[in-house]
Amino acid sequence: MSDRASLPVLVTGGSGFIGSHVCDALLQLGMAVRCMDNFATSKRSNIAHLEGRPDFALVEGDIRDAEACRNAMVGARAVVHLAALGSVPRSIADPLSSHATNLTGFLNVLDAARLEGVDRFVYASSSSVYGNSKELPKREPNTGDPLSPYAVTKAGNELYAQLYTRLHGLNTIGLRFFNVFGERQDPEGPYAAAIPKFIRAFLKHEAPQVHGDGQQSRDFTYVGNAVMAVLAALESADARAVGQVFNVAYGDRTTLLELIDALRNALAKTDPAIGRVGVQHVAERAGDIRDSLADISKARELLGYAPQFDLKAGLERAVPWYVQHWG
Ligand SMILES: NC(=O)c1ccc[n+]([C@@H]2O[C@H](COP(=O)([O-])OP(=O)(O)OC[C@H]3O[C@@H](n4cnc5c(N)ncnc54)[C@H](O)[C@@H]3O)[C@@H](O)[C@H]2O)c1
Repeated sequence: MSDRASLPVLVTGGSGFIGSHVCDALLQLGMAVRCMDNFATSKRSNIAHLEGRPDFALVEGDIRDAEACRNAMVGARAVVHLAALGSVPRSIADPLSSHATNLTGFLNVLDAARLEGVDRFVYASSSSVYGNSKELPKREPNTGDPLSPYAVTKAGNELYAQLYTRLHGLNTIGLRFFNVFGERQDPEGPYAAAIPKFIRAFLKHEAPQVHGDGQQSRDFTYVGNAVMAVLAALESADARAVGQVFNVAYGDRTTLLELIDALRNALAKTDPAIGRVGVQHVAERAGDIRDSLADISKARELLGYAPQFDLKAGLERAVPWYVQHWG
């Protein structure tokens, strides 16, 4: 191992849903990890199994604090920047908070990475940047007008990262995640994502709430695929990948009603009463995209990304976790 290879990878938002899986994967590959998080939207229990390891360090800090970012960056080899306030509805209700964390906080981490001279800066963008674009499947160059402050912050992340590549030669790679799901995704609170919220409702024998007719479709992406993309982006030796953004998804789409059927069937195997729970339709939500499906050929070609888990395989892993922790 070269000297630099032994330096830690800084994972911001490392106690979050995707972040905690990224920390696990990096450690499994023998890399040292420094996790920076302020637990704004995650539980410390997500990383409890890592605390105390000599190759894992936790920095409790806020990315809105530029000095905290510079301190957390000292000696880091690379960055996986995942810290953000997720959720489109949250950003519509409280745009200032989303802006402060997702855009100002992003710039704090990006600039600290530049000052430290890290080898690579991998960051989470989002499928929300496709906004009102009707194109299916979504291809990277063809973004639309943003439909929410959240989407604006993610589009801004991409502009800043690409600018830092051009101005400072920082090796940035952006990953546009599409509806990631899996173990540890929080099912609680007003801004929970669809899959954990639906599972939680079924486990309580309550009808899951669907906004609109339920025919809207998504490219649901198991977290194992998202982690693989992060690792590929960190390690990719292809110079053409630098300064680029990539769709990260499975490459298939499922309607919400189809998803709900799959969840009901999976959960009814252990609790037959769930098989009789229906669906509650409520008003459509502002800022929501109707259909979402990714073209993942760019990530396949330049990052060697090859998703291993389709929706069924992902649910086979995720559902038992929810039954165990939330049933
Ligand atoms: N989950 C998805 O479907 C999805 C889709 C597209 C993009 N993303 C992006 O991926 C990243 C990770 O998302 P996630 O689903 O794991 O969400 P998450 O909420 O579980 O993780 C985000 C983490 O960032 C931390 N954080 C928030 N504000 C912070 C601050 N000011 N300082 C330090 N830490 C802070 C939170 O405590 C949390 O641990 C985010 O950037 C999100 O926007 C996620």
